[in-house]
Amino acid sequence: MADLLDRIRLNGDVPAHVAIIMDGNGRWAAERGLPRHLGHREGMKSVRETISAAVESGIDILTMFAFSTENWNRPRQEVTALMRLLQHYARRESDELKKQGVEVHVLGELDRMDESTRGAVDAIVADTRGGAALRLNLMISYGGREELIRSARLLAERVRQGEIAPHDIDESMLEATLFTRDVPSPDLLIRTSGECRISNFMLWQLAYTELHITPVYWPDFGRANLFEAILDYQSRDRRFGRVASS
Ligand code: FPP
Repeated sequence: MADLLDRIRLNGDVPAHVAIIMDGNGRWAAERGLPRHLGHREGMKSVRETISAAVESGIDILTMFAFSTENWNRPRQEVTALMRLLQHYARRESDELKKQGVEVHVLGELDRMDESTRGAVDAIVADTRGGAALRLNLMISYGGREELIRSARLLAERVRQGEIAPHDIDESMLEATLFTRDVPSPDLLIRTSGECRISNFMLWQLAYTELHITPVYWPDFGRANLFEAILDYQSRDRRFGRVASS
């Protein structure tokens, strides 16, 4: 393990912002004949391990897709289990995250959450404010298309108020309306469980992000997997649509 971290440090170029689509909790549970919610519970251990590995590796921002707008359509029992898990996580992890210098932000359509989940989430955000080692974005009740619709509405309203003209709208003005307005785009996106798709995650922000897809189910993902993903990233040639530099 120290080996992987040494190699990352030797390469030098650690991605500043890593985003993760945590997938495969349900399949992990099904393969063991367990109910799905136990897969999510096991997935929480991977959340914990990945956050401390992110701190260790020197990543500045970690963004985790914890609950999508589409996830609201899952059976009520599973939605309730996920909300409970979030509450549990928020109440239990606050001290440890503070100790590690992790500042938690929660991004998404939070009004759809029930009151007690919302309260727990607001508390962890307030308690961890000022953490300087890592910014953790938990994406909850988040969908990329919904985020862009929200941006379109916000900009349309500004046009209606006469504050701006349609041709004033450019990339930076649109970016300023996104949930992620105060963070740069991810350098690296990790998706677990081998699915090769974006699934409505950060549609605008992922335009030039490097993708790392691993077959590992989220509950089996740990620090070595994060370090391998970083090493994979460090082997890429990022051109942003330009030709290779010589
Ligand atoms: C995808 O697995 C995972 C989720 C929908 C939820 C992710 C939640 C956690 C990892 C636990 C809680 C997280 C935090 C931050 C407290 P899936 O159910 O889609 O798996 P499947 O595709 O195998 O069915």
